[in-house]
Amino acid sequence: MSTRDREVYTVGSKSFTAVAVNTAAKAGEWIKTKLGAHSKLATKMSSHDLVTEVDKGSEALIRNLIMTHFPHHSFLGEEGVEPGPEAAAEALEAHQHTEYLWIVDPIDGTTNFVHGFPFFSVSIALAYKGEVIVGVVYDPCRDELFVAEKGKGAYLRGQKMGVSDEMRLSDSLIGTGFPADRSALPVNMIGLQAIVPQVRNVRTAGSAALHLAYVAAGRLSGFWEIGLNAWDLAAGALLVQEAGGTITDTKGAPYSLSVRHVLASNGKIHEEFRGALKQAGALGDN
Ligand code: IPD
Ligand code: CA
Ligand code: CA
Repeated sequence: MSTRDREVYTVGSKSFTAVAVNTAAKAGEWIKTKLGAHSKLATKMSSHDLVTEVDKGSEALIRNLIMTHFPHHSFLGEEGVEPGPEAAAEALEAHQHTEYLWIVDPIDGTTNFVHGFPFFSVSIALAYKGEVIVGVVYDPCRDELFVAEKGKGAYLRGQKMGVSDEMRLSDSLIGTGFPADRSALPVNMIGLQAIVPQVRNVRTAGSAALHLAYVAAGRLSGFWEIGLNAWDLAAGALLVQEAGGTITDTKGAPYSLSVRHVLASNGKIHEEFRGALKQAGALGDN
């Protein structure tokens, strides 16, 4: 067999973004057909950390579609990694010299999916040499597909998205979440107790990726959470940046794939928001 015969066949002429969009849409539509119809419910790290056959099926579908178009790219999906922060850090480390890395959460908001609460998403990002260049978050229940390309903006239904205008924490609607790793719960509760009285209100709707998309769309002024993983954040981080917002870790360092304690906002409230968490001792251990 000649070298040419052995070359992996690649389906031609599709952009990274087109593949991310089509794949997220396809996975989301399939997940929606399984709403209320999953058959296998298991727990991972704790009784709060759920997984179903639909999470695994969605990841397999996404991986197959992406690998069909880009067989030489690498893939990091939540369901391919052992539960827990150490395994997640190791998986990321293993890809540190990878050129093109797809980072996927096949259902972000599994608890909502299991309970039939219509707020979950598919999150697909592509990083080039560690920097996210494409981010797609798809909400199948509302048929909302949020898409961003590095340097080209963030869009929803063809309209450019922009972050909200609030200048003060007191005028802000803030999102947060409670991670499956319950060792972070004490610091979460401290943060919540400090933030609730200082803002207009707080929402904890159960999908970090969608919360970030909502910051990008100006529906939330900001979002923070302790103890997230690369697949929860990568796509949403680019959405926030490309919509003109700011995303850092809770200590203020710029977003990177290894960030676990995240702070995202419209930019205008970022320092006040960070200051409030800092004063409460709720930044988490980095
Ligand atoms: C979870 C969701 C939730 C957040 C948790 C995540 P999963 O992801 O994003 O909103 O609070 O920290 O683990 O487990 O549904 O993919
Ligand atoms: Ca997730
Ligand atoms: Ca998930």
